Amino acid sequence: MNGELLLITGSPRKNGVTARMSCFAKEAWLEGGGRLSVFDAYSIAPKPCTHCGHCKTKPSCIYDDLNELDTALKRASALVIASPVYVMGFPAPLKAILDRMQRYFEEKFTLGNPCPIPLRKPALFLAACGAANNGANGSPAAGSDAPELSYMKEQLIISFRLMNARLAGTYLMRGTDTLTPDYEQARRDIAALVNEALITSMK
Ligand SMILES: Cc1cc2nc3c(=O)[nH]c(=O)nc-3n(C[C@H](O)[C@H](O)[C@H](O)COP(=O)(O)O)c2cc1C
Repeated sequence: MNGELLLITGSPRKNGVTARMSCFAKEAWLEGGGRLSVFDAYSIAPKPCTHCGHCKTKPSCIYDDLNELDTALKRASALVIASPVYVMGFPAPLKAILDRMQRYFEEKFTLGNPCPIPLRKPALFLAACGAANNGANGSPAAGSDAPELSYMKEQLIISFRLMNARLAGTYLMRGTDTLTPDYEQARRDIAALVNEALITSMK
């Protein structure tokens, strides 16, 4: 038993690339015998952080729309974030979830709770990117990260610190707007990543 995987998805398209990649991660995790909780950023439509200062005074958020996700985050022993690339970053509802993790920064450093999210967890980032040769400023060398992915990973590393997660692997499907995605290859690659970076690393 691998505990619980928290999967957070960030695409409005129910049958899009992110949805397919998320399914592959779910299948691999469930085959390993773990439990699953799934949150879709567009269904939640979370309020953006308004920097109101509430979380500097109490270990909570003034909004209650992420309460269930927060409870799942505290239970989870692994995390997957799956997202399309929108303007070199995260779609707004998913970015709002990441921004709202600021409450754990304040809980730790202002309110003095050393470990607001007790369970340390490995995390995967699955990304769908429309461009085949990435980058507004030209193409990176073959095999190197797309610039979008580098920016998004930098953002995730900060948010993951607050979520007590560590980035253990990434998977990028490039060229989704022009090429036919090889979903069978993606299924195999994502299953291998879930097994190696999440399940095996937790043993
Ligand atoms: C608002 C918007 C912004 C986008 N920005 C980018 C971008 O900066 N770079 C890129 O490669 N693709 C960009 N795309 C294309 C998506 O990343 C691509 O279509 C992706 O496969 C969508 O994933 P989904 O099918 O899971 O929704 C953008 C798409 C939209 C709708």
